[in-house]
Amino acid sequence: MNEEQRLAAQDAVQTSNSKKQEKDYSKYFQTVYSPPSLKDAKKRGKEDVNYHKDFSIDPAFEGMGKGRKFYIRTYGCQMNEHDTEVMAGIFLQLGYEPTDTTEDADVILLNTCAIRENAENKVFGEIGHLKPLKLEKPDLLIGVCGCMSQEESVVNKILKTHQHIDMIFGTHNIHRLPNILNEAYLSKEMVVEVWSKEGDVIENLPKVRKGAIKGWVNIMYGCDKFCTYCIVPYTRGKERSRHPEDIIQEVRHLAAQGYQEITLLGQNVNAYGKDLQGMDYGLGQLMDELRKIDIPRIRFTTSHPRDFDDYLIEVLSKGGNLVEHIHLPVQHGSSEILKLMARKYSREQFLTLVNKIKKAIPNAVLTTDIIVGFPNETEEQFEETLSLYREVGFETAFTYIYSPREGTPAAKMKDNVPMEVKKERLQRLNNLVNEMSLQAMKKLEGQTMEVLVEGESRKNPEVLSGYTRTSKLVNFKAPKSVIGQRVMVKITEAKTWSLNGELVEAKEPAEVNG
Ligand code: 5AD
Ligand code: SF4
Repeated sequence: MNEEQRLAAQDAVQTSNSKKQEKDYSKYFQTVYSPPSLKDAKKRGKEDVNYHKDFSIDPAFEGMGKGRKFYIRTYGCQMNEHDTEVMAGIFLQLGYEPTDTTEDADVILLNTCAIRENAENKVFGEIGHLKPLKLEKPDLLIGVCGCMSQEESVVNKILKTHQHIDMIFGTHNIHRLPNILNEAYLSKEMVVEVWSKEGDVIENLPKVRKGAIKGWVNIMYGCDKFCTYCIVPYTRGKERSRHPEDIIQEVRHLAAQGYQEITLLGQNVNAYGKDLQGMDYGLGQLMDELRKIDIPRIRFTTSHPRDFDDYLIEVLSKGGNLVEHIHLPVQHGSSEILKLMARKYSREQFLTLVNKIKKAIPNAVLTTDIIVGFPNETEEQFEETLSLYREVGFETAFTYIYSPREGTPAAKMKDNVPMEVKKERLQRLNNLVNEMSLQAMKKLEGQTMEVLVEGESRKNPEVLSGYTRTSKLVNFKAPKSVIGQRVMVKITEAKTWSLNGELVEAKEPAEVNG
């Protein structure tokens, strides 16, 4: 068989498989409102978002979890971590108890991430590992949720090859967890509930927060930026902002409970408020309100440089509980690649923004996200990333090799950069990131810094660990009674990724900014 015939044969197999999928798998869709479709997800509806302020569990489901335990494994970003907190809250309201082992669980959920291929591979690996457990305990329910379940191809693959999965539900269906579980207990077939189109904004969902020191607060959902490499606008739907009063109330509540730090969450927090009807209200206005709340630290993630406006910079420059650490994903240093990525800013515009921020907030620490090996990236273009990184003086970065995501425009681009070249570029970038991180850390030696103590160090229980306002990890010896407090620590030794220090004193209670 020549190459052409081989490819034709492969095509034929794929076509017949996909036809088979359509024919066979429809019967498994117990509760599908619309099957997940990246194409449908791209259509941004003009219709208003409805706000539901009154989430409550249907009394019919009360006690569903009595005598049962749940386990949730979370992959990916803080948004997913926070969704897990919501699902855990729903489980508790249903009467389930948490467990930290899969063997002990009656319901296992995998809250998945679709951002890169290796994130998906990990999940498929875990799905495979869980099969023997399901065979051993047929009453066990296993569910897949999060971003991967918004992908048609993933749903089809699970339906086809992982029949031991009981439930698949999407990012817009979390509040329907009680109904989905109920359906799964009643049905012998896989329950699939994935809405392609985003749902409404649901307030008052229960939450079990992971800790009592730092808390996440969603300010918006979705993303309308459609960077050409990114799957998020498809898996998370259109931008929907929560009402300011609901956010402010949640932060006040966390402050009253003694939380020391909150992180405002959104895929593109700088677009906050753009969709709020009849209001001229953005992230700057929101931060200006939140800084008056008696909570020591407020940060946000993640920003898009395009929407980072002057008013936000002005508000951030007021400091106080608004920390001087800004995570500002640049993605690339070449204007040509930024254009192909549809980032809608050039290298020069990015540098102008950085200069504005540095002028207004002279002690600002900037960190970023960078992608190497975008289709057809030349050596010169890659070197522009290195030079931009130095020029800005980023203190650290999350760095990634470009991963084609099905359904995105970049995935259709032909790519002439071999994987070995991409890997070598990533290594060179990481060397620079390490060098610049150590350089920034060294400057802190001898300084006394505020550290929010989170607990015992992972490596040595004799030592406590915490973070500075600028997100630097500090290890130091102190009595365990300071866990959860802000203390002053003198930095004695700088390493690439952490600082060692000595306790100086416990801090006064937080000042309220007027
Ligand atoms: N390939 C590699 N990295 C990606 N990111 C988003 N999509 C991709 C992709 N397809 C990175 C971006 C983003 C971070 C969360 O993940 O840098 O800021
Ligand atoms: Fe993805 Fe962020 Fe771009 Fe939105 S702004 S498409 S989440 S990279």
